[in-house]
Amino acid sequence: MKFYANFKMKHTRASTSKYIEDINKELEDVDCANIYIFPPATALQESSKKVVVGAQNGYFENSGAYTGEIGIEQLDEFNIKTILIGHSERREILGESQEFIAKKFNFYKEKNFDIIYCIGEPLEVREQGEDALFEYLFAQFEGIDTSYSNITIAYEPIWAIGTGISATTKDIELVHNKLKSKFSADILYGGSVKVDSIESIKEIESVDGVLVGSASLDAKEFAKLIKKGLIA
Ligand code: PGA
Repeated sequence: MKFYANFKMKHTRASTSKYIEDINKELEDVDCANIYIFPPATALQESSKKVVVGAQNGYFENSGAYTGEIGIEQLDEFNIKTILIGHSERREILGESQEFIAKKFNFYKEKNFDIIYCIGEPLEVREQGEDALFEYLFAQFEGIDTSYSNITIAYEPIWAIGTGISATTKDIELVHNKLKSKFSADILYGGSVKVDSIESIKEIESVDGVLVGSASLDAKEFAKLIKKGLIA
């Protein structure tokens, strides 16, 4: 299992440093090489013993006149080589189009980044049935090279993000099995993953890891989730 913590617009530079210190301590005796955190841009730092630090966002240029954005020059300072692309909050709130997202993807692919590529559907689409669901999800792969060797796909139904309502095993299997039948990439599930739900999620064969928001914000809680997720 792989574990990814998306801090979103939470935590500061100071609290992220403390978080990394705490998680390294909590997981000192745990054998797990696949723990990633995505702090806000102001809190980016070098990866540490147990934790790989990635970026929540990046523009498709090395540097330049792009107010509010960061690019390779800023990421290189911290040796960052992992990035989230296509998160639903950036699609829905920041208005990123599929075309724009594909440009980012291709740019970071050229730079050989590990890309966590997120897809997910809103509730009204899910309620329309399977055909509508897969049509919506597969449109989010337009312009994306799913055979890229460093892509990890994250399926995050929008109705499960930050709502406390995690998708059921059946909901997750429906999408993950379909994705597995088409792509060889690892596939993460995200959406209200908690310490209490990790045990059932990890049992799903087509789930290779989890992308966690709220339940990752406290280092001790996230460490607990990781430990539970690792028990065979
Ligand atoms: P959540 O967020 O765990 O708070 O639902 C997940 C995500 O948006 O990546």
